Amino acid sequence: MARFPQDFAWGFATASYQIEGSAFEGGRGPSIWDTFCKLPGKIRDGSNGDVATDSYRFWKVDVALLKSYNVKAYRFSISWSRLIPLGGRDDPVNPEGIAFYRTLAEELLRNGITPYVTLYHWDLPQGLHDRYGGWLNKVEIVKDYVNYAKLCFDSFGDLVKNWITHNEPWVISCLGYQKGVFAPGHKSDTEPWIVAHNLILAHAHAVKLYREEYKSIQGGHIGITLDCHWQIPYDDSPENIEAAKKGIDFKLGRFADPIYKGYYPERVKQIIGDRLPVFTEEELTVVKGSSDFFGLNTYTSQLVKEGGTDETNGYITVGHTRPDGTQLGTVGAKNICVVNPPGFRSLLNYLWKTYEKLIYVTENGFAVKDEHQMSLPEALHDKDRLEYFEGYANAMLGPVSEDGVPVKGYFGWSLLDNFEWTDGYETRFGVTYVDHATQKRYPKEFARFLSKWFTEHIEP
Ligand code: NOJ
Repeated sequence: MARFPQDFAWGFATASYQIEGSAFEGGRGPSIWDTFCKLPGKIRDGSNGDVATDSYRFWKVDVALLKSYNVKAYRFSISWSRLIPLGGRDDPVNPEGIAFYRTLAEELLRNGITPYVTLYHWDLPQGLHDRYGGWLNKVEIVKDYVNYAKLCFDSFGDLVKNWITHNEPWVISCLGYQKGVFAPGHKSDTEPWIVAHNLILAHAHAVKLYREEYKSIQGGHIGITLDCHWQIPYDDSPENIEAAKKGIDFKLGRFADPIYKGYYPERVKQIIGDRLPVFTEEELTVVKGSSDFFGLNTYTSQLVKEGGTDETNGYITVGHTRPDGTQLGTVGAKNICVVNPPGFRSLLNYLWKTYEKLIYVTENGFAVKDEHQMSLPEALHDKDRLEYFEGYANAMLGPVSEDGVPVKGYFGWSLLDNFEWTDGYETRFGVTYVDHATQKRYPKEFARFLSKWFTEHIEP
């Protein structure tokens, strides 16, 4: 039977704003998501992350859950404004915040679970947004982000050896500054490119710092997580074949090409023209090669047709209905939830061929349709999620055992049903059902399945 090597890291992922709650406790300052959620009509069920899954208080319960699932690793993110409530390099540090994440990392290690830590999962301190426009201000944000990263390396680097700078910069820049549907809710056709550029620079400078001052002492590695769904041409017409390539460049290449190769993709340059900032020679020396691995978040595959009005994807149209009317796979709660394991395999092969970096699948998951309306027993028997993960886990084995693709880890999204951004609590991605009224956690059937599957498919 094909297996992953013994050091393969598997586990589940979460993010600070989606699970912690205690938004105004423990000395935490507000983030742009606290502000955004309070704007009328932004969150489908009118909710926010004030309480979330209350994991700031129930972190020990969460670690026990992870332990019961037999995971080897846990990916969580640090809330910047819990460590530095106002965010900036001259602002006070919050010792309670430092203590919280240290205790969490220690408890994970005590239980044999390796921490994978994301520095930035979208919750920019509101203080920095108010002071100078946050991600729009290159000079200030790069310095403040690097200062925050340094605080994390200093405070947790003896315990944490796996660092992820940003989670999904495409979402940060396109949904936050182009479509305006995520915090901070800006709608612009220039800002997303400035923000994306500054995200890349901040990432690269944090990596430079880690490599120069911490790596040799702490012995960890650091990279970035990008998101992409495999892009399949809708049919074999030349324009749709080209559209699928453009889809990859607009979603992934716009970050991956500068970071791994040192330039923006031609297809992006052609469409964006002089709205695309240019890296100076000096910046490029920091940016090119600035990731030790490829962190990938992926949920589904999409069928791509040329044409449309959406600049975030390069004016293509995506869907999951084939020309003959059939679906790419079982459909879940939202458009990123369509079961298509072959696309996952193709994407992994594409990444290895294009960027030649070790790959960590830092998120992969499925929200079952209408789960929020199901009874508890129905929700726990999550057969569509099972179909999804069984397909995806098996699809990952092929590239590793047959094609020589070095996938080193896999994190299911998510440990818990949590605050799913603009969907509020209605969309449930968790492998653990959370009763949001009582905060009681109930393992779904699938959690047990994955635990057994990985136990069987990793070399003992
Ligand atoms: C990716 C994001 O990183 C995560 O925060 C989100 O909940 C999942 N996708 C599901 O939409």
